[in-house]
Amino acid sequence: MKTDKTIEMGVKSNQSTMIREQCQELILTPEKITELEKRFLYEINRGLSKETHSKADIKCFVTYVQDLPNGKERGKFLALDLGGTNFRVLLIHLKGENDFEMQSKIYAIPQHIMLGTGVQLFDHIAECLANFMKEHAVFEERLPLGFTFSFPLVQLGLTKGLLVRWTKGFNCSGVVGEDVVQLLKDSIARRGDIEIAVMAILNDSTGTLMSCAHRNHDCKIGIIIGTGSNACYVERVENAELFDGDTSKPYVLINTEWGAFGDNGALDFVRTEYDRDVDKYSINPGKQLQEKMISGMYMGELVRLVVVKFTKMGLLFGGQGSDLLFTRGQFFTKYVSEIEADDPGTYNNCRMILEELGLVDATDEDCANVRFICECVSSRAAHLVSTGIAVLINKMDEPSVTVGVDGSVYRFHPRFHNLMYAKLRQLVKPHIQFDLMLSEDGSGRGAALVAAVASREN
Ligand code: GLC
Repeated sequence: MKTDKTIEMGVKSNQSTMIREQCQELILTPEKITELEKRFLYEINRGLSKETHSKADIKCFVTYVQDLPNGKERGKFLALDLGGTNFRVLLIHLKGENDFEMQSKIYAIPQHIMLGTGVQLFDHIAECLANFMKEHAVFEERLPLGFTFSFPLVQLGLTKGLLVRWTKGFNCSGVVGEDVVQLLKDSIARRGDIEIAVMAILNDSTGTLMSCAHRNHDCKIGIIIGTGSNACYVERVENAELFDGDTSKPYVLINTEWGAFGDNGALDFVRTEYDRDVDKYSINPGKQLQEKMISGMYMGELVRLVVVKFTKMGLLFGGQGSDLLFTRGQFFTKYVSEIEADDPGTYNNCRMILEELGLVDATDEDCANVRFICECVSSRAAHLVSTGIAVLINKMDEPSVTVGVDGSVYRFHPRFHNLMYAKLRQLVKPHIQFDLMLSEDGSGRGAALVAAVASREN
């Protein structure tokens, strides 16, 4: 005979079953991944080729960085890091192969500047730089500077890059199509109080590759899984058809800008109503579609949309949501990491987060289901990233490759590294050895290293 309790449990597990069924579309099956690999490689090759570059989703911009650090880089450098959650100014002293000192300061970039004019943005950057130089007693010096600018650039040289488009939360007027280094120099000249020597402008994925390669000479790929997502890798010069630099050197780093994969529809077969919703309400609809399935700027919102849908279907919280749950942007990506950090079967973090959202009556089953939703969304992100990395590794076809990875999602999500590693082992050709390595502050140290490698040549 069924007691009330088993009846109640029966109803609940029915809801869990429905949630599991509904979440199937978030799972990248091996068949889907095989198709993704094919499309990914196709877009990479289209990006590299002169003829198809303009139509390609994955642009594969050339960087003009051709030499990896050799460990002999020395000296004091300034670095600017713009494009993640924070803007930073850094002073880096490279002293020996594994010996460096770094001081840095984070400056806020208020929303009105992120969405204001380019002049306001670069004046603000120049002001932060001047203040930093004063505070660190290098105001009178003319130090070489590396500028990590984490947006798509058409580079015309190591110190010249035209902005293709803003991504993530930025949208400043008057910058697209302009040389970003010149805009920075103009702002500095307007102030007239400091002098700098811009040695290089680079992407954060390039910085990540460089800082990882500084320690590990097998490092040939740099990945960012943070606010946005991107990859940089070492390509043979003859494959980089748009490269017009020094072709006597064998390699050039390529900034893939893979976040834009899918912008021509290549991901439509795996995108869901949640992805379409995130895109529709973003500041750049129709753009950066793969990034919107992966990165920290969007992951929490994806989870929220799934939770909202199931709540409205009566499958979660007895059908009762809360104002915060129903408000865009209120489910932070760090919640996904925290919820998945709970020991299996326990829901301490999950309960705290749901309470913060005003969902005070969540049952254990609700918590288990919310966790399951988080797992589906984060696993999908990890598998998408791994698919892209596997394509790069297999294309390079070297016996051994280390992948440097940076970014808040990779750093703080408790399962991301393992998910990636396991998927990569399935996808990478069996004879290739690979490793995933956390890159220590690629955007900062990488900028100094690119500047140093550039000064080494001058
Ligand atoms: C966005 C930017 C890209 C950057 C990535 C990670 O995709 O377009 O340049 O590398 O975010 O910050």
